[in-house]
Amino acid sequence: MPTDENKNEHIPVLLSETIAGLDPRPGDDVIDCTVGAGGHASAVLERTSPDGRLLGLDLDETALDAARRKLERFGSRAMLVRANYKDVGRVLLSHSFGPVQAALLDLGFSSLEIDDPARGFSFRKDGPLDMRYDRSQELTAADIVNNDSEESLTRILWEYGEEKFSRTIARAIVAARRQAPIVGTLQLEQIVYGAVPGFYRRGRIHPATRTFQALRIATNDELGNVQTALPILLDALASGGRLGVISFHSLEDRIVKKFFEAQAAAGRIEVLTKRPLIATDEENERNPRARSAKLRLARKL
Ligand SMILES: C[S@@+](CC[C@H](N)C(=O)[O-])C[C@H]1O[C@@H](n2cnc3c(N)ncnc32)[C@H](O)[C@@H]1O
Repeated sequence: MPTDENKNEHIPVLLSETIAGLDPRPGDDVIDCTVGAGGHASAVLERTSPDGRLLGLDLDETALDAARRKLERFGSRAMLVRANYKDVGRVLLSHSFGPVQAALLDLGFSSLEIDDPARGFSFRKDGPLDMRYDRSQELTAADIVNNDSEESLTRILWEYGEEKFSRTIARAIVAARRQAPIVGTLQLEQIVYGAVPGFYRRGRIHPATRTFQALRIATNDELGNVQTALPILLDALASGGRLGVISFHSLEDRIVKKFFEAQAAAGRIEVLTKRPLIATDEENERNPRARSAKLRLARKL
């Protein structure tokens, strides 16, 4: 039985596959761009003992606090910085860190974030429509929902959610906000639910899932950040160094796949995963979040 203390604990996905793929060795320096609760980072630091260092980035103070606790035992070998991974080049320079032997991007949100109703990432419980990883950022999901034009909302839902009822849902959002501002996760969930046809409500996934994904991606510019970070990370790798990216939906995975293909064609990397690695049935059973995870790995030539 989970206790209150560990019920929000983040379980790192594809942990053994990631560590085997990144292959950190004693003394290696490694960058974890999305350190989260420090699960992958801790396993890396065990492998790079006694003196390998890890630079861990996250935008979320709550995640960094959790990582700080988890990685305390590694002392000064673990360095944690609040930063956006799209700025990883600047962070590496300012910390005189790199070239690195391995780099990891484990995209999206952690359980600490999705399970906390106050963060507004989920419609399972009511909370403010926030969805920011970085709580010092001004833009929230509520700003987008209440201020963007119907055309802009349609595009966001279509492009970032691959939502086939994007137009219908955008229209319903605009109609609803004329009555009252849309401020809560359950309020938005109800608007989406009320807008879509009956067969869609009875579908495999909840009809608001794609809308929430799209708004999260737009609020945090998630695809833009990945696009920006990948070439910087490749530059930061030592020759023979490894890059691992764990993605959770096809839009992210497509960006990584295309980047790897182009760099391999240019002779800069060897792609180590012809197909992305996915979780075993046993891991999916233990951690449902692993179901959509895909790991791609490359080695710098
Ligand atoms: C899937 S979790 C990482 C979990 C981590 N690997 C672990 O084992 O605990 C993703 C993390 O990335 C952070 N994040 C999302 N976008 C970010 C960005 N642009 N820059 C830095 N961190 C980001 C989130 O706050 C979250 O903590």
